[in-house]
Amino acid sequence: MATALIILAAGMGTRMNSDLPKVLHEIAGAPMLVHALKAGAALEPARTVVVAGHGSDMVEKAAKAYDPDVMIALQSEQLGTAHAVAQARDALAGFDGDALMLYGDTPFIRPETLAAMTAARLTHDIVVLGFEAADPGRYGRLIMRGDQLDRIVEFKDASDQERAVTLCNSGVIVADCATLLDLVAAVGNENAAGEYYLTDIIGIARARGLSATVVRCDEVETLGVNSRAELSRAEALFQQNARAVAQEDGVTMTAPETVFFAHDTVIGRDTVIEPNVVFGPGVTVESGATIRAFSHLEGCHVARGGVIGPYARLRPGAELAEDVKIGNFVEIKNAQIAEGAKVNHLSYIGDATIGARSNIGAGTITCNYDGVFKHHTTIGQDTFIGSNTMLVAPVSVGDDAMTGSGSVVTKDVPAGALAVGRARQENKAGFATRLFEKLKARKAKGS
Ligand code: UD1
Ligand code: CA
Repeated sequence: MATALIILAAGMGTRMNSDLPKVLHEIAGAPMLVHALKAGAALEPARTVVVAGHGSDMVEKAAKAYDPDVMIALQSEQLGTAHAVAQARDALAGFDGDALMLYGDTPFIRPETLAAMTAARLTHDIVVLGFEAADPGRYGRLIMRGDQLDRIVEFKDASDQERAVTLCNSGVIVADCATLLDLVAAVGNENAAGEYYLTDIIGIARARGLSATVVRCDEVETLGVNSRAELSRAEALFQQNARAVAQEDGVTMTAPETVFFAHDTVIGRDTVIEPNVVFGPGVTVESGATIRAFSHLEGCHVARGGVIGPYARLRPGAELAEDVKIGNFVEIKNAQIAEGAKVNHLSYIGDATIGARSNIGAGTITCNYDGVFKHHTTIGQDTFIGSNTMLVAPVSVGDDAMTGSGSVVTKDVPAGALAVGRARQENKAGFATRLFEKLKARKAKGS
């Protein structure tokens, strides 16, 4: 059956104390909203509707950056989760099938869990995802009658007896779309918060003779993020899981608790990651590479056998071919480095192409920026760039060429040539000895 995905993301997120809409706060380098969209994508939804309100422009931009086909429904006043779902009505016009609702602040639902909910829908009108909470806190409580879900009561409205229930509402609900919109329209706001609670649809549905059930999942999956403290807990859980997955995939980590992955990091088999490595978004490392301690990588690709760091920084557009070596205190940005090339010490390589087996000496800098424009540096294969060479882009160095240490290279260097661009050295015989004597004498006199 076709499924529509509705993600509620209009809330203020008051407890975040932030100018940024809550759902745009990031976990592992991606907004919570993107995690929710990724989770929902497992259903291959026929339509995806994000209900946005607070900071809707920003929310829309983030949603469309992930998937341009996402539809945005505006909830200009945040009157509650049922009211939010009602705003998706126009976007769902003409849709025939099930609707699954996710909250944008509940980022970790697994595809298997959504599949279990779809399966349970075959025998029940409404399926709610619940979890046994170690500390049920402010979650809504699921009140069962036998194997039927009877109603959901919000924490604020719950009696002491109801608060003692540990089976909690995750916020994920699936039902026939038309039925859902009908139920939502019947929700009122006579409750402690004065809000239209989505959770009230269960009581209403049961009164209409519809059936409702609960699919249970692990608490980790349903973690709702409402505060900065919960955001950091969600981040920690993500990392814990990502490290376990990497280990299962054959990655060695000396101190896994100090390695941080992004939502989309891909690491190949038999790669070794030393302590204190951070992966930003968009990193692919092939098999058999070594990422040494204290390195930071984002938006880059490290091919088989690469050795990065310690203390290296790979920025977006760093494309490293097989067996490339990037050493300590080296920054690479938007540069293609061909197989076997080495940039081992204290260098900045930006907007550049480096040919195979070239050796880039310590302290080399591609001067890529003139204050207004960025320019490209092209270095051929088998070159030897002397230490402390300044390559003033746009400039090129041909195959098998060399540059002298300390050169400022402003003109193209032909293949096979040696470029020396520095002041000629002059030695003044005895000068240092005489100067030392004069200075020491002055010091002895105390002046
Ligand atoms: C909600 C549930 C609660 C559940 C918990 C799970 C309701 C009434 N309560 O509580 O049972 O245990 O989630 O995490 O649904 N939103 C809108 N428009 C609104 C209000 C909220 O789009 O008018 C969005 C928010 O952006 C958020 C989501 O809905 O992504 C949930 O809202 P939130 O206020 O965080 O609900 P909780 O109090 O956490
Ligand atoms: Ca919440």
